[in-house]
Amino acid sequence: MESNRTADLYNIVIFGGNGDLAMRKLLPALYSLFKHDHLNPEGLIIGASRTSLSSEDYTQLVHDALGVHLGADEFEQSVWDRFSKKLRYAEVDANNPDSFHGISDICKHSSAHDNVYYFSTSPSLFGSICENLHRASLITEYSRVVLEKPIGENLASSKKINDQVAAFFDEGQIYRIDHYLGKETVQNLLSVRFANTLFEPLWNCSAIDHVQITVAETVGVGSRWSYYDKAGALRDMVQNHLLQLLCLVAMEPPSDLDADSVRDEKLKVLRSLREITPDQVGLNTVRGQYLEGAVGGQPVEGYLSEGNGSASKTETFVALRAEIDNWRWAGVPFYLRTGKRLPTRCAEIVIQFNAIPHSIFRSSQDQVCPNKLVIRLQPEESIQLVMMNKVPGLEESMRMQAVPLNLSLDKAFDNPNRTPTAYERLLLDVLRANQTLFMRRDEVEGAWQWIDKILEGWKMSSEKPKPYTAGSWGPAASVALIVRDGRNWHD
Ligand code: BG6
Repeated sequence: MESNRTADLYNIVIFGGNGDLAMRKLLPALYSLFKHDHLNPEGLIIGASRTSLSSEDYTQLVHDALGVHLGADEFEQSVWDRFSKKLRYAEVDANNPDSFHGISDICKHSSAHDNVYYFSTSPSLFGSICENLHRASLITEYSRVVLEKPIGENLASSKKINDQVAAFFDEGQIYRIDHYLGKETVQNLLSVRFANTLFEPLWNCSAIDHVQITVAETVGVGSRWSYYDKAGALRDMVQNHLLQLLCLVAMEPPSDLDADSVRDEKLKVLRSLREITPDQVGLNTVRGQYLEGAVGGQPVEGYLSEGNGSASKTETFVALRAEIDNWRWAGVPFYLRTGKRLPTRCAEIVIQFNAIPHSIFRSSQDQVCPNKLVIRLQPEESIQLVMMNKVPGLEESMRMQAVPLNLSLDKAFDNPNRTPTAYERLLLDVLRANQTLFMRRDEVEGAWQWIDKILEGWKMSSEKPKPYTAGSWGPAASVALIVRDGRNWHD
């Protein structure tokens, strides 16, 4: 149903418009898009939520949030003066059809062609928001809808939510966000793989020993406890962000960059993931939960005391070993790891190539390490190819050292422009009607299908998550998971 019309003259209606995500990420991203001339000045930005606020109050809240969440040089009074004229607020109760007229009334005064609806609310409200938008005649064939994760808590609930939205929007109108896909280096992964001839011939089980994907966070759960406790790290991070990264590393070259070409290839990877059956869960996964400790030299509370001492078996750390059953990846383990309250904030993908088949360097001090391609998403974005080099000198036996060839994006491009945030990229893609960096329904459901098996195994097991001290790299068992295979985490 979605036309090719890419005109960006849309109003953007944010449900959950005064919530944490809207204030921390969405509105700063919209402000930056506006500042850098990517937003049509005529479209409105309408915050919608149940809170009783005037448009002036809302504008003030947005102003304060930009002060906190924008980079120092990004806020400019003259830009704000123009941007703030786009802001409106509608008091809307997702379950009360009458309240949706607030949105219609605002839209009547806008010259936009149509609306983008951003659902930044609990997914349990997606169905009634769609239904009430429809009743208020606010959905046309040109409307678009953006769905924030989590889309469900397992395959069954995800299907239900997808069905509820699909009753009012076609798949071509639905943008399921995974903000990791909007990160610069994640997109750069596509260019490293498919705009160079160097790696692709080696990108398979004959040359690659294993792959590691780590997303480490220093933050705890804090005020998100009640959401997080129902989710845990597997649902919150692995089902979406880590599996999407795995798909981009493992997929076959798509025939072009069209949304469906890329998404078809990612789906094949998800479908080739070997099921981790309940009897395998103990061997292939590790769950952890942080205790009090120190991060960055500061003492921090444990997970349970953040939740006011509630008992909980929710994991704040997961490490797992996945395998992809296809020709390219047969026998190559993918080790995934993510957690809160780890010692540093970093997200990286490490492709470790095979060890050399025979060493001519006899001296015992000459340890020849396998080559690694290290793709770092954050904090700073970089790509390093770790190679063995001779240490300069006149020693009789040659000394070797692993040295990274560095491609730091900042230095390489000497880019005077700031790096756009993931949400800027993705919101702009919604306005451009480009779905390549969004998840299709079958992908989300494919990921849940694999995750469900792990959840099932955990449920059947009497084991609790293993405690780890905040500020450490998770439970010792996560080291054992990889050491058992004769490998190590790249720390
Ligand atoms: C979100 C998770 O999707 O990603 C959060 O819900 C997590 O728990 C966040 O903190 C991490 O995103 P980033 O971009 O800061 O790595």
